[in-house]
Amino acid sequence: MDPNRRPDDMLRITTVKQAEDFIAEQVVRLQEQIADRQVLLALSGGVDSSVVAALLIKAIGQQLVCVHVNTGLMRQGESEEVIEVFRGQLSANLVFVEASERFLDKLAGVSDPEQKRKVIGAEFIRVFEDEARKLDNVGFLAQGTIYPDILESGPVKAHHNVGGLPDDLKFELVEPVKLLYKDEVRIIGEALGLPASMVYRQPFPGPGLAVRCLGAITRDRLEAVRAADAILRQEFSAAEYDREIWQFFTIVPDFRTTGVRDGVRVYEWPVIIRAILSVDAMEASIPDLPMEFLQKVTKLILDNVPGVCRVLYDITPKPPGTIEWE
Ligand code: XMP
Repeated sequence: MDPNRRPDDMLRITTVKQAEDFIAEQVVRLQEQIADRQVLLALSGGVDSSVVAALLIKAIGQQLVCVHVNTGLMRQGESEEVIEVFRGQLSANLVFVEASERFLDKLAGVSDPEQKRKVIGAEFIRVFEDEARKLDNVGFLAQGTIYPDILESGPVKAHHNVGGLPDDLKFELVEPVKLLYKDEVRIIGEALGLPASMVYRQPFPGPGLAVRCLGAITRDRLEAVRAADAILRQEFSAAEYDREIWQFFTIVPDFRTTGVRDGVRVYEWPVIIRAILSVDAMEASIPDLPMEFLQKVTKLILDNVPGVCRVLYDITPKPPGTIEWE
């Protein structure tokens, strides 16, 4: 039987009871497989890696070493939440690497979107390798591969780094949710006690805010996109749009526009709001958000984000427009 194929008779996990049975079965399996070795996991704080981390903590406790890298490209409060949940609530063995300066230095002057992705991927591998070399009993690398990743890109999660690790760091893979769909992974996460903010998080690209700070990233524009995104998320959550809208975020392009502030002309950035409805990110449509709500968000961004004098709402469906801007 192909271990990467979901058996035809495998039931879809829809209830807490089924989730608990899955967890109990996996805990035994993981304990047998791993024995007394250590397992390394890159913990981004996304749904899949968080659920795998929580499952492994239940199975092997401190033998799991989670590495969370702050690339400087995370949303506001994201690294703090990972530390609070995993170190604070789950007592995880968590290594936190503050690598913002490393990433931003490497990205300086890089404007091509694919080149930006490559620089981020390569730097991530380097940071992760540095941490892996500090440990001497690691036998396994855990990954949050889920079934759609296998269906779409073969057995290894496309953006994961195992292919890029050097030979002496090629560990055996542990992928306990690789036969599950996203909705099943979410139920498992809830049954493991992860907070709803983590389990129902909207998709967030691996390269993070880098693809929303268009062109060559500068620190001031990156801060503008992070601050505007935090306001947008706060308001979408207060209005309870956050569960029905698939993705919502802001973009700051690399050009300026004229404005007027206290009677003086200014030359500052625009912020673009993107909010889309989708079922699988392959196609997207635009939610009919009330104008009053958009005006409120616009005012909050203009009043609170330094260097921004204009706000736009992108109403382009996919196709032809992709969800992200680059
Ligand atoms: P597009 O922009 O292609 O995005 O319509 C489809 C979905 O993929 C996400 N996305 C990415 N995710 N690395 C990722 O992990 C990336 O480089 C990347 N680019 C886009 C996007 O947010 C949307 O959910």
